[in-house]
Amino acid sequence: MALAARLRLDGRVALITGAGSGIGRETAHTMASLGAHVVVTDASRQAAASVAQEIAAAGGRAEAHELDVSDETGTARVIHAVADLQGRIDILVNNAGIGARMPSEELDTAAWERVIAVNMTGAFRCAREAGKSMLATGRGSIVNVASIMGLVGGGLYPNPAYQATKGALVNWTRALALEWAARGIRVNAVAPAFARTPLTTKLLADPAMEQAILANTPLGRLIEPREVADAITFLAGDAASGITGVTLPVDGGWTAR
Ligand code: NAI
Repeated sequence: MALAARLRLDGRVALITGAGSGIGRETAHTMASLGAHVVVTDASRQAAASVAQEIAAAGGRAEAHELDVSDETGTARVIHAVADLQGRIDILVNNAGIGARMPSEELDTAAWERVIAVNMTGAFRCAREAGKSMLATGRGSIVNVASIMGLVGGGLYPNPAYQATKGALVNWTRALALEWAARGIRVNAVAPAFARTPLTTKLLADPAMEQAILANTPLGRLIEPREVADAITFLAGDAASGITGVTLPVDGGWTAR
């Protein structure tokens, strides 16, 4: 089968967390444009609904759900309801993520734990629950949205809990890939560098910070959310059928240095 056909996602049920904004929203659009039925989930019900509406207006298939990945019972309820109604979940994108840009000596335990609850435990929880459907059908693909901050220490400003959780996502991606490989499930990650989204608006509003970021990016520009969405979509689908356990940097060369 030709590559163009293997990139298609026709008939696939793809659940994306944090899909109401930024990279998740872009991924929802990209997957829908390739034929997927996209389950747009976000902690903000309104944001999820509006992205699902955009997709429907563009002729794609989407449904919206409020899903806070740090909520144990709510997450299981939504994922099982989708799996029951659609018959399966083929693709999970663990995209929801937050930071806490604070020096370590000022970061209180509650803020540290909040980042872990969303970025790390939330991803595990969604994989476990969606994994039940994937293991039952013997097919599935999970893509975790890590960050270059899971591959390097950062250094431009302190964000210690973010770095800790993104590094954890990189190694957990390997562990889960090995655990489920023989049962038909691939698990991969992307590690984006800086893209302009609501997550980075404040940071990039500081011209000196934007300059420092660009100076660290060999391509000399920010990453487009669309470029991250393309990499996620590639890893999620059959074009990447031989790939599991990897973290693909989408970083303009940041980690090549
Ligand atoms: P964003 O802030 O634009 O979107 C994140 C979405 O996640 C929002 O719609 C928000 O409502 C939702 N969300 C927050 N907490 C949630 C929770 N507990 N449960 C469910 N949804 C929740 O952020 P962006 O930039 O699109 O980030 C998406 C992912 O990409 C994150 O994991 C982030 O760490 C990662 N990333 C972003 C980079 C960037 O430069 N923008 C660079 C590297 C990684």
